[in-house]
Amino acid sequence: MTPDDIDLSSLDLFAGGAPWEHFRVLRAQAPLHWNPEPAPNHGFWSLTRHEDVVKVGRDDATFSSQKGAVSLEELDDEQLELRRSMLETDGARHWALRRLLQSDFTARSLASYESFLRGLTATTLDAAFAQGEFDFVRSVSADYPIRVLTRLMDVPDDMASQLIHWSDRLVGNTDPDLADVLADSTDSDQYKDLPFRSPAALEVFAYGDRLAAERRGGDGTDIVSRLVNKVPEDGIPLDERDFHLNFLLLVAAGNETTRHTLSHTMRALIERPDTRAMLRDNPEMLPVAVEEFLRWASPVYHFRRTATRDVEMHGKTIREGDKVLMWYAAGNRDEAVFDRPDEFDVTRNPNDHVTFGKGGPHFCLGNQLARLEVRILIEEILRRCLPLQLTGESEQVRTNCIHGTKRCPVKVVSGG
Ligand code: HEM
Repeated sequence: MTPDDIDLSSLDLFAGGAPWEHFRVLRAQAPLHWNPEPAPNHGFWSLTRHEDVVKVGRDDATFSSQKGAVSLEELDDEQLELRRSMLETDGARHWALRRLLQSDFTARSLASYESFLRGLTATTLDAAFAQGEFDFVRSVSADYPIRVLTRLMDVPDDMASQLIHWSDRLVGNTDPDLADVLADSTDSDQYKDLPFRSPAALEVFAYGDRLAAERRGGDGTDIVSRLVNKVPEDGIPLDERDFHLNFLLLVAAGNETTRHTLSHTMRALIERPDTRAMLRDNPEMLPVAVEEFLRWASPVYHFRRTATRDVEMHGKTIREGDKVLMWYAAGNRDEAVFDRPDEFDVTRNPNDHVTFGKGGPHFCLGNQLARLEVRILIEEILRRCLPLQLTGESEQVRTNCIHGTKRCPVKVVSGG
């Protein structure tokens, strides 16, 4: 395979799982790779080396999020405004929006979550294991993070399955099993002003409106109340659209990524009895191991930036206006940073992964929460001696943005 054979815009390339070999070829032979795309798009640059992913993520003056961070769509100015959350905002306004929620996500505020998460884990695992045979994604890894989100938003637990369904339709917008309207079909043109080009966004907005109406002017400390009642530090209150888009961002971000980390980790541990036994017998190893779970899973394949000026890199010129993709998953397998990068080594330390971005202004707000959720769930599964076995192939989401598992059939066996 040569770089010219590689097309990272082809979603089918990702349907069978991550294209690790393609990433390796690009890192070695074309660290800045021009990838043509079908019209109406104009193509994108791919960065696959760790140091480049870090550099671009930190330099928001040269590599802006304002023209899109998640989608490869090339939006006009009106669409950009209609779809802009904090993720697609640069500079002072971004900072002000981020600060609205930041205090909810610090290690200190999350410390009180530990016992809640342990209780939740027990309920989730007991219900799943009682089924005997089940889909690990549906019964455990999708259910658990969404229940954390319902608590953060202070909404009833019975909203969990609806929130999962919304986020599946949004983030799975290019997978025929998950999307109601495929984003890469002309049917989605009528939804072109919505995030993910998905009608599910309208339902999420309507639900957000109901919550906002209940909480406006109140003294709630949940994240919805904060979005509704707090004025950002730049003094510009959130209008209805800001509220909708940032509410939707939390619904999607807070659940898909953690879910996929758990599914990939679980599969890796089921396939490696020795590793599992080591972690079960030495739970103090888990904080280090969690970093390897995150590197291994790399649930976000890439996010996007747009060049604000011409830039030279690796002997080529990125032109102003070009799309630049930071392939986090490829950076996480960079042999220049990670010894034996394709090995799942839970003792790897240091582990300088870029799963949450690294040091840039958009560095994942939920990183501490995700780490806590993953550690506690895996610890509790191991404590139960992990009596699980795979009963079939797991299936991957058809998208080049999220490294996601949509089904992972397992059964409970005795003795684990
Ligand atoms: C394993 C789980 C997770 C992964 C891999 C992940 C990954 C990421 C990445 C790669 C970014 C963008 C970084 C950048 O552009 O520099 C991001 C941003 C963000 N994440 Fe996460 N995330 C996870 C969990 C969460 C959770 C649990 C929440 C909240 C409940 C969350 C909320 C956010 C938000 C709000 C942003 C935007 C921050 C900004 O624009 O300033 N994430 N995440």
